[in-house]
Amino acid sequence: MPAFIQITDTHILPEGELAYGRSDTAAALEAAVTSLNEKLALIGPVDCAIVTGDLTDYGTAQEYERFKAIIARLKLPYLAIPGNHDGREAMRAAFASEDWMPKTGPVQWARDFGPFTVIGLDTLLETAHYGHLSEEGFAFLDQALTEAGGKPVVIATHHPWMHSGIAAMDADNLRNGAALMERLEAYSGPVRMISGHVHRALTAQLGKVTCQIAPAPCHAVHLDQRVNAVNSLIMEPGGATLYTWHETPQPALVSNQLPIGSFAGPWPFAGMLDEPST
Ligand SMILES: [Fe+2]
Ligand SMILES: [Fe+2]
Repeated sequence: MPAFIQITDTHILPEGELAYGRSDTAAALEAAVTSLNEKLALIGPVDCAIVTGDLTDYGTAQEYERFKAIIARLKLPYLAIPGNHDGREAMRAAFASEDWMPKTGPVQWARDFGPFTVIGLDTLLETAHYGHLSEEGFAFLDQALTEAGGKPVVIATHHPWMHSGIAAMDADNLRNGAALMERLEAYSGPVRMISGHVHRALTAQLGKVTCQIAPAPCHAVHLDQRVNAVNSLIMEPGGATLYTWHETPQPALVSNQLPIGSFAGPWPFAGMLDEPST
């Protein structure tokens, strides 16, 4: 059963700094690593983690070194793509020795998991918060889709195309996502798109493409769908997302949101009550 864990929007800062003066993002990633390592013993083999952007808050070398130091404790290899808070060249330098990091151009890669392929795309437009897929990105996608040959594909991006209902986040989505969706609609196999950026767990079916946005280990974006909402962060529980390929009852990639933290239990259901529950 091939499987991977999506970690997104870790927003690591230099030591002693909080994101927006409030959110201890390093502590959140530490907690995520601890929590995921504990779960790995229960959820069977997981091939790798995929980090879908905003690894750092300002895209500096110092922040990437801190990110690497924290995530080094995770008992999984990982691949990553950049988000709007990343710096492409600083990220390239930080991960230059990784086999998934291209020497030049967009940070994009494809990974064959057997029954499905994950295609990581770079939607970072330096100086902008919204996302943009470059011509090189579309060319890479076309080639990767051809190589996938009709088997299920997962497109990993930082910026989603789907809207969340949070106006300020939706204004900064993948602005040329319509062209991406056209390509994906034309693909002969099933397509999933997994993204970050909104720091919340969302799902939508757009045509033939199942779109998901994953929660972050740190702060969430406040769910306020009013017209004049002030875009805000909120310290809701952090999360990561497990994706496991199951062959039954029909072959499918099943996603499972993993809350970060320690929780009471587990207690076996059997023998807990003398009387059957009603
Ligand atoms: Fe983010
Ligand atoms: Fe972002």
